[in-house]
Amino acid sequence: MNAPARPVADGVWPMAEGAPLGAPWPSSATRVADGEMVLGGVGVRALAAEHGTPAFLMDEADFRARARGFREAFQDTFEAIGTSLDVYYAGKALLTVAIARWAHEEGLRIDTASGGELAVALRAGVPGEDIGLHGNNKSDDEIVAALEAGVGQIIVDSLPEIDRVADLAAERDVVAPVLLRVAVGVHAGGHRYISTAHEDQKFGLSVNAGPEGGDSPAVVAALRILERPSLRLCGIHSHIGSQILDDAGFVEAARAVLRLRAHLAARTGWLCDEIDLGGGYGIGYLPGEETVDPHAFAQALAQAVAGVATELGTPLPRISIEPGRSIAGPAGVTLYTVGTLKPQLVTGEDGETFTRLYVSVDGGMSDNIRPALYGARYHAELANRVSDAEPVLARVVGKHCESGDIVIQELDLPGDLRAGDLIAVAATGAYGRSMASNYNLLTRPPVVAVRDGASRVLVRRETVEDLLALDVG
Ligand code: LLP
Repeated sequence: MNAPARPVADGVWPMAEGAPLGAPWPSSATRVADGEMVLGGVGVRALAAEHGTPAFLMDEADFRARARGFREAFQDTFEAIGTSLDVYYAGKALLTVAIARWAHEEGLRIDTASGGELAVALRAGVPGEDIGLHGNNKSDDEIVAALEAGVGQIIVDSLPEIDRVADLAAERDVVAPVLLRVAVGVHAGGHRYISTAHEDQKFGLSVNAGPEGGDSPAVVAALRILERPSLRLCGIHSHIGSQILDDAGFVEAARAVLRLRAHLAARTGWLCDEIDLGGGYGIGYLPGEETVDPHAFAQALAQAVAGVATELGTPLPRISIEPGRSIAGPAGVTLYTVGTLKPQLVTGEDGETFTRLYVSVDGGMSDNIRPALYGARYHAELANRVSDAEPVLARVVGKHCESGDIVIQELDLPGDLRAGDLIAVAATGAYGRSMASNYNLLTRPPVVAVRDGASRVLVRRETVEDLLALDVG
C-alpha cells in the first residue's frame, strides 16, 4: 500500500491499510490505500456521493456491540451479587425505528422522554412493557399514549403528575406502573446544563428534608403514590447527570436511594423492588480521552449496592440503568463537505498575530449544537484522502449566520485543503441528530447506517419541500 504521508489517527503513522483508526472513531473505521476513510466497509466518497452531506453515519456493528457490551457487563456483574439488571437504551441520544430495533434486538429496553420517542419505539415493534416514559412535564396525551401502549414504567417527576397519572389510569380502569424520580443531591457530569441531581434544577423530588425537617419531598411523593389504587409503585429512579467519567457519583446516588428505600420500607412496609440508576456514562471525544469501561463501573456499583443493602439489612433490589451517549455516541460520525476557505489574520492574547484558516462546512450548529451549548470539543480529519502538505492551524465552522457556529475550535488540517474535500467528525452519534434544528431553515441531515460494505438510509434528509409543507400560514 501507499503509506499515508501524515498521521491518520493520533500517534499512528504510517498505518497499515485496514487497521482500525481507533477511538474516538467507530470500531469499523479504517483507511484504504489511497487514504480514504472507510466506515462499515463503505468509503466516505461513495457515501457522500450517494447520500450527500452533511450526513450522520451510524456504524451498526459498533452500536450493537456497545449495547450488548453494556448489557452483558452489567447483567453478569449484578447476577454475580445475586440480583438481576435491565438496561434501557436512552432514546434521547438518538432514536430512529431501526436504532430502537438494534437496541431491542441486543436485549435492551427503551427509555423514552416524550410522546415522539414513545411513538418511534412502538413503531419499531418494541413491546410496551419494554418501554419506560420519562419527562418532567408530560402532557395528558403522552400519559394516555403510555397507558394505552401498556408501558412497563412511567417515571413520575412531581406531585401534580402523580395525581394526573393516577386519574388518567383510573379513568381507563388500569393500574399504571410507576417509578418515582428522586434527586439525591449529587453533583456529577460535564457541563452544568447536563448535571441533573443537585437541588437547584427541575428534575426529581429531593431525598433531603427542608430546614424545618419532616418528610422529604421524595417520601411525601412515595406516600402519595402508595395511596392511589390506580398506581403501582415499582421502584425509585435516580439520574445524576451526563458525560460522567468517575463512578463516585453513581455510588453515592445508589447509597442515597437504598437509604430512602429502607426508610420507606420501615415506614410503610413497601419494599421497593427496582432501583434505576439512570444513564450518564461518559465517552472520549478526542483521541486519548477516556471512555467509561462498563465492567469497571458495573463492579463499583454492584459492590456499593451489595454493601449498603447488607448494612441496612434489606434484600437486594433489581437494578436498571439507562445509557444513551455511551452506546450511540462513538458509533456515529458526521460527514461534511468543505466549502469556503478563508485565512484570517488574528491577534492572540499575547499580542502575536497569526493566521487561522476558517474552514466552512455545509452544516454546523443546526446539526451539532453541542460546541455552542456546552463548549464540547470534537476530533475531525480530512476523510476523502490524506495529504502530505504542511498542517495549518484551522477552525471548522458551519454555514449559519452566527459567529458562535463553530464545529471545532482548533485543529490542524493539511495546508492543501480545498473546497469539495470531505471532513469527518468523530463521536457525533449521540445528541447530534437528536438535538438538530432547522436554524436558518437548513434541512436536517439524514441518518445513514453502514454495515458490512453497505449503507442504508434510516432517516432521510429533510427537503425544502418538507419545510414548506409545515408552513401553512
Ligand atoms: N436517563 C435519564 C433520565 C436522562 O435524563 C438521560 C439523559 C439519560 C438516561 C441518558 O444519559 P446519557 O447516558 O446519554 O448520558 N444533551 C446533552 C445530554 C443531556 C442528557 C439528558 N439526559 C449532551 O449533548 O451532552
